Amino acid sequence: MTGYELPEVPLPEKYLPISIAGEGSRGYTYFCIPSKHATISTANEIDLKSLRAKICVVKVVASRRKDALDREVATLMAVQLQGGSLAKRIVQVLDLGGVDELAGPYYAMAPVYGKDLGAFVRSYAIQEKSVPIEFIWHVFLELFSGLAYLHSQRIIHGDLCTGNVMFDSSRQDFPGLPNVVIIDFGSYEVPTGNEEDLKEEMASDAWGAYDAVHRLTWTGYQEAELDPERDPDWANFVNGLNDMKRASGNLARGLKGWEPKDFLSRFRHIAAERRKATPPEVLEEVQGALNLKEIRKTLDEKLRAAVEWHNLQLCLEP
Ligand SMILES: Nc1ncnc2c1ncn2[C@@H]1O[C@H](COP(=O)(O)OP(=O)(O)OP(=O)(O)O)[C@@H](O)[C@H]1O
Ligand SMILES: [Mg+2]
Repeated sequence: MTGYELPEVPLPEKYLPISIAGEGSRGYTYFCIPSKHATISTANEIDLKSLRAKICVVKVVASRRKDALDREVATLMAVQLQGGSLAKRIVQVLDLGGVDELAGPYYAMAPVYGKDLGAFVRSYAIQEKSVPIEFIWHVFLELFSGLAYLHSQRIIHGDLCTGNVMFDSSRQDFPGLPNVVIIDFGSYEVPTGNEEDLKEEMASDAWGAYDAVHRLTWTGYQEAELDPERDPDWANFVNGLNDMKRASGNLARGLKGWEPKDFLSRFRHIAAERRKATPPEVLEEVQGALNLKEIRKTLDEKLRAAVEWHNLQLCLEP
């Protein structure tokens, strides 16, 4: 027995499923490796290191709407093809996918080894703890530069929420802290060409980003208590997030200045300075909360079981 757990949902034929990555309202995601890499001659030992490098995350669109998947992949590819450092804020497509006979529409992307922002906040909230401030400055910098870049290209996310922002401990543009990666462009609609519609959609993305960072500032489930005397920059920033939520959520009232690029330019310098001064114990704490070691260990075990099962099946085939 290999201890392999067969997935309860269909996955594309050409992939060997390893372990569930997540579920959403439109589909599900699975850590997989392409089956062709999982076939090992009996003389060889399983080489976990090279197999690990082949891991990807396959997203199956349960709604079976191929047009929705095509739009999602096209948006991701448009950002990716531009290259540059900001493309790293968006999850990378590894296989454009297609329609599998059993599973339906799918594509594959680079794995993100870590939690989404919502799950990260919940783990602090349950313990009634505050997320380290230096880490919040980091998330703000990476999330807002990613979003400002998308908007500069007139690209809308469409569902920017705490579940669609992930922290990837295995990639660190700022050493010691996880990369912030925006996932799930499944709600993206092609702009109608109407400037007002585009502005509304951008404002809705912006609201999601302000809300996500604002939630990180809470202690437990309570909004932060601020002491403007002790840390005026922090108090201005947190109050600013609140004001911007109000502004981007009330476009009809003509409130101005909500654009992420403007908020970013107001606080970018302070955020970068404060992040630079992150003490080692904060780096350790964030790494502990994301628990990369545990994720890798569990995935390694499941990867080995999946490959053993796959090769056993090949032997049993007539
Ligand atoms: N590249 C990835 N690496 C690891 N986990 C991922 C990756 N992409 C997605 N996930 C996980 O899978 C979940 C579902 O993915 P996604 O948000 O793309 O699906 P969805 O059905 O479109 O979601 P929604 O409910 O937001 O509409 C995510 O919340 C996340 O936990
Ligand atoms: Mg999602």
